[in-house]
Amino acid sequence: MSLDTPTFTSFPPGFIWGSATAAAQIEGAAHEGGKEDSVWDAFARVPNAIINGDTPEVAVDHYHRFAGDVAIMKELGLDSYRFSTSWSRIKPGDREFNRTGLDFYSRLVDDLLEAGILPWLTLYHWDLPQAVEELGGWANRDTAFRFRDYAEGVYAVLGDRVGHWTTFNEPFCSALLGYGAGVHAPGRREPLAAIQAVHHHHLAHGLTVNRLRELGAQNLGVTYNLTNAIPADAADPVDLDAARRLDGMMNRIFLDPVLRGAYPADVADDLAAVGIQLSEIVHDGDLEIISAPIDFLGINHYHDDVVSGHPLEAGAIDPHLVENGRPLSSPFVGSEFLTFPSRGLPRTAMDWEVHPDGLRHLLVRLGHEYPNLPPLYMTENGAAYDDVVSPDGAVHDPERAAFILAHVTAVAEAIAEGADVRGYFVWSLLDNFEWAWGYDKRFGIVRVDYDTQERTIKDSGRAFAAVFAGRPAE
Ligand code: NOJ
Repeated sequence: MSLDTPTFTSFPPGFIWGSATAAAQIEGAAHEGGKEDSVWDAFARVPNAIINGDTPEVAVDHYHRFAGDVAIMKELGLDSYRFSTSWSRIKPGDREFNRTGLDFYSRLVDDLLEAGILPWLTLYHWDLPQAVEELGGWANRDTAFRFRDYAEGVYAVLGDRVGHWTTFNEPFCSALLGYGAGVHAPGRREPLAAIQAVHHHHLAHGLTVNRLRELGAQNLGVTYNLTNAIPADAADPVDLDAARRLDGMMNRIFLDPVLRGAYPADVADDLAAVGIQLSEIVHDGDLEIISAPIDFLGINHYHDDVVSGHPLEAGAIDPHLVENGRPLSSPFVGSEFLTFPSRGLPRTAMDWEVHPDGLRHLLVRLGHEYPNLPPLYMTENGAAYDDVVSPDGAVHDPERAAFILAHVTAVAEAIAEGADVRGYFVWSLLDNFEWAWGYDKRFGIVRVDYDTQERTIKDSGRAFAAVFAGRPAE
């Protein structure tokens, strides 16, 4: 890891420094103010689905404590806050709009603006109304149209004050981990449904971009979790094919329909080989809707993936296929045999390798691979470590601080090599509900005591804030 401390001077004027969260991970109030079950509330009731039986019911109580959380962001000097709205809170059961739910986000946005913080809104961060799941969820094409209607209702209330709109966060997870691997809500292990879900997320994205654009929205984008798929042995054709397949199912199946208006042919062939015909899922005209121009691409990146087509050595643990102690189905529909050997780099508490140069490489290569790439924003990057409160009351988390600073440096290097990156949002503002890992993994730059809900800015939060302290006002 680089030891040089990065500063704002290595970034273009107007570069946005922010932090990110998601509704289901922080809000709590899961059944308050008119909110009804999301798929994550329902999934949390499935025995052993979530570590320690944790639930998003209370989370970090942001629903009641948002004003204090905004004050923390102001103290840190952040330019922007990336948060998500909960469909289940705004249109519970996907019926009528819930004024109380919309009011909550309206007050949050007002507080942010008052504090001089740009609201960056994500319409979907995985918390589908359970009632919509019971109608088939993302495997059902109708869900895309329901999503557009929900989005339009949010825009009608917040469009006058929110300037940046992201349709989806990491549809890889909500489609392929949720409907293929079954490790995320709704916990289905149905390969066909998983691919239908991918397509219907895309369709919902395109329908929403078109509708919000008609209504006057100016900054519209989507966030994908992108990886560098690295063959374990670059001289081995089996590993090279494994890397092609992983790149197909994590990167290109998302980027190509939106940026090129077509699914990658090799991915379609891999799916056809297991009996899934994309041509039966994709309707005429869909790809034109899906490839509507966007104004930015959000990138979430935490780690590269070294991938192989050979079985792992006996006894090795494959973090992609074992989570929360449970063996998983693979999210890589049509390529279930992929394995992920270690190349021996340091790892975070998620067992994800630490390799900041991978981020530089990813940001630079995307510009070469997609000539019409819109401006990029790092919408998530960060690390879980098992930090503790010291006797002095502080949280000394040098590993997280080093991780963040090294990745910020990697972004600066990518920009110097020509990547058009315009912002960096650290994941996460607060320790929070880490999905199937419950409260076991802490990603926050602010510690939350889950018994008292007390917040403590960690050393990493101060180190991050120091990067952009003193930047000129825009
Ligand atoms: C990506 C997801 O968007 C976020 O919800 C999650 O907590 C982080 N990765 C860390 O796993």
